[in-house]
Amino acid sequence: MKANRNALLTSGFCGAGDEKIFQLENTFGAHHYDRIDLVVRHAKGCWLTDKKGDRYLDGLAAYSAANPGHHHPVITRAVVDALTQNYGSVVSNVVFTDPLGVFLSKMADFTPQMAPRFGEHGNKVLPKNGGVESVETAIKTMRYFGYKHKGIIDGQQEIIVFDGNFHGRTISVISFSASQKYKQGFGPLTPGYVSVAFGDLQAVERAVNKNTCGILVEPMQGEGGMKLPPPGFLKGLRDIADRHDLFLACDEIQVGMGRTGKKFCFEHDMIVPDGVILGKALSGGLLPLSVFITNAKIMDMVFSKGSDGSTFGGYPLACVAGTASLAVFKDENLAGQSRKKGEILKEKIEKIAARSPHVKEVRGKGLFIGIEVKQGNAMEFCRKLLKLGVVVNDSHGRTIRISPPLVINEAEIDFLVRQLEKVLVE
Ligand SMILES: Cc1ncc(COP(=O)(O)O)c(C=O)c1O
Repeated sequence: MKANRNALLTSGFCGAGDEKIFQLENTFGAHHYDRIDLVVRHAKGCWLTDKKGDRYLDGLAAYSAANPGHHHPVITRAVVDALTQNYGSVVSNVVFTDPLGVFLSKMADFTPQMAPRFGEHGNKVLPKNGGVESVETAIKTMRYFGYKHKGIIDGQQEIIVFDGNFHGRTISVISFSASQKYKQGFGPLTPGYVSVAFGDLQAVERAVNKNTCGILVEPMQGEGGMKLPPPGFLKGLRDIADRHDLFLACDEIQVGMGRTGKKFCFEHDMIVPDGVILGKALSGGLLPLSVFITNAKIMDMVFSKGSDGSTFGGYPLACVAGTASLAVFKDENLAGQSRKKGEILKEKIEKIAARSPHVKEVRGKGLFIGIEVKQGNAMEFCRKLLKLGVVVNDSHGRTIRISPPLVINEAEIDFLVRQLEKVLVE
């Protein structure tokens, strides 16, 4: 028993009581997250379990990272096999590996031809770890595209972004964040961005000038309040990008991989961007893995040997998880599940909203649903839901974010709805 306990300790899993875990993190960790009082000991499918064995429905799915459900058996098996058969660890990027080649080819095929106006050259993929790293890759691509393809003086390139955006937290990315909290005191910030109202095509048109090289957009804003743009907005952006020869990049880190009921969120507007960024669910929520994908011709124009790189970007274990997760996405029709279950769940939530004194609006597509509350106190409702066995959080203060794993079943939807009813109506 004792030997077993020591093994757990060295593995980083000590099994201590919740108070000890709070204390360890408060003492030794940066306080950069506002956490709720739950220590998760176990995660499987749509459920999170604490030390007492109490179960919580995961209504958040790590902001879309756990789309296929926690510890999906196929993805977990692929990772375990890679580790036990010794093909998972990071090896130097000076050598080739099986898992990377396989993953890149699957990924390139998974995506429609990016930037088709540059020809049917196929897609190329640049892998990284966390999502924001691939946002940076997209920014580099747009800037280089402006410099090399459009002849903009290097250093003068401008990218159009949107108010309420969230693309991550590197210095360059917070430089164009709408949130003061993300950037205050972290200057100097990176220039080269112009932010306009999300959904306002005329504002985009007005922002275009001779130095504009690209447009970076979330097809739906997750952190910005679960916001959907007006129908046709992406089509309008595609049109502006075509007329002014701009690079249109879609950040699908949160809303891609089936979350909104389609494989890619840009499909709702039937457009194809010039580049797409994916992360979060790409590895089935098991490992950090993100990609930037564009037309092979553009990727080859922008990146040459030494112009980019990452020690862990595209390392075997993450690639194995990525390939398995693409298979699960297809085999289990995760986009279809999201569409169908999202319709059912949204309809039930709308019925609650009609009887609730608190709800201002319900919006969303697929299993990407926001419940905006009148007083802007969404987190209060989230804390009440936690006591009722549901983990969700707020988006932008005003909106309860509902984004469970896409494999949520009927009984689990009913449980979620019953608990929402208790906090919003009773
Ligand atoms: C749309 C979008 N882009 C980028 C990111 C950043 O991803 P990561 O936290 O993995 O760096 C997020 C994270 O929530 C996101 O929602």
